[in-house]
Amino acid sequence: MNQQTTLLPDPQAPNKRDPRDYYPTPKEAAVPLVQEFLKPHDYVWEPACGRGNLVEVMRDHGCKVVGSDLHDYSDQEPATGLHFGLDGLDFDPFELSNNNAVVTNPPYSLAREFIEAFVPGPWVTAFLLRNSIFGSIERHAMWQRYPPAAIRFLVPRPSFTGGGTDNSEYAWVVWSRDRPMRCARPIGWYHWR
Ligand SMILES: C[S@@+](CC[C@H](N)C(=O)[O-])C[C@H]1O[C@@H](n2cnc3c(N)ncnc32)[C@H](O)[C@@H]1O
Repeated sequence: MNQQTTLLPDPQAPNKRDPRDYYPTPKEAAVPLVQEFLKPHDYVWEPACGRGNLVEVMRDHGCKVVGSDLHDYSDQEPATGLHFGLDGLDFDPFELSNNNAVVTNPPYSLAREFIEAFVPGPWVTAFLLRNSIFGSIERHAMWQRYPPAAIRFLVPRPSFTGGGTDNSEYAWVVWSRDRPMRCARPIGWYHWR
């Protein structure tokens, strides 16, 4: 397991890392992904949903979304109907096989594990990842096994702290083993705000 930590510039505690790796995605950063790759009535699982930012964007689009997370965010006004206490990596592929898509911003420290767990499945997988993951020597073999079908770079870089940025750049990375991709181009940019 990659033990690299997520460091964010919290003005009160510059090097403090959330032990749960909870950095909610700004909802607007998910809107173009959902519009491009999902259709209303798609069945989607968000396996590291936090308080449900991505779940809400997908539901607003008409998708039927199940959200779960290892940690419990029920004290943070979560979206309705989320399942807490479930490890996103502990799932039965058979039960999930009718899903159209799996969409999340996974915990950074488990990005590779999430990719290796979900990408082989017969669904569209879309993960928000740091761009530095593409140049990592430890992940090189993984990218050979699981080359993405589409990448959408986020411009400007999103903030996960409600203000500043962690100086990282991010992209939505999309895989689709069996399903025809609903996109015209493999590489693109979302100018999301
Ligand atoms: C970067 S946050 C993103 C939250 C949410 N997906 C979003 O985009 O707003 C990563 C989430 O992964 C959750 N998490 C950490 N380890 C997990 C695991 N093994 N299984 C499921 N969720 C996990 C954290 O609790 C946190 O909510």
